[in-house]
Amino acid sequence: MQFFLDTANLESIKKYASWGVVDGVTTNPSLIAKEGVSLESRIKEITEVVDGPISSEVIATDYDGMISQAREYVKWHKNIYIKLPMTEDGLRACKTLSSEGIHTNVTLVFSPGQALLAAKAGATLVSPFIGRLDDISHEGMELIAEIVEMYTNYGIETKVLVASIRHPRHVIDAARIGADIATMPPEVLDKLINHPLTDKGLEKFLADWEKVKDLQ
Ligand code: E4P
Repeated sequence: MQFFLDTANLESIKKYASWGVVDGVTTNPSLIAKEGVSLESRIKEITEVVDGPISSEVIATDYDGMISQAREYVKWHKNIYIKLPMTEDGLRACKTLSSEGIHTNVTLVFSPGQALLAAKAGATLVSPFIGRLDDISHEGMELIAEIVEMYTNYGIETKVLVASIRHPRHVIDAARIGADIATMPPEVLDKLINHPLTDKGLEKFLADWEKVKDLQ
């Protein structure tokens, strides 16, 4: 399973990239706005830190606007993936860009039907938002299972990028289902690495070592 970071915070991206486990980065307009930076400059900075897919989302909501923004974004770096909303115009733009060999990530996906449509339009990645489904008392992970099953049935190449991840259990369950990618906020990576028994165990090893370290 690939791990992407779901943030536009450059310091975080540098920190977690140094762990050697970050395969890509997803951003969205809210994450960019939170940093108070320009989209172009931040995306370019991210491409210098992570050598993998970097999703940059279109702001336009009409087909022509999406295509023109996408054509601009792909000039920034070879690793740019164009993030498009799951709308009629987004789907049409996905078909056009995918046909030209431009990598796409169809976002704001909340149903299996939307995921099938994204695949038919040639999306490189599809982003089902599981946390936001959980928030409204739906079972987000069921959507992942349905998409993985459908894509497997037909050998569909679109990769399932599990988005809106809230906690480590989401990552583990998505991995057990066989989703291709999990994009997660930095806090989730912290929670994945930390375990109180690891800390306690290390403390004990070091304390015991202190007792014998000077013996010849
Ligand atoms: C995915 O690419 C989105 O940026 C993200 O996962 C949205 O998550 P949220 O529901 O935590 O905003």
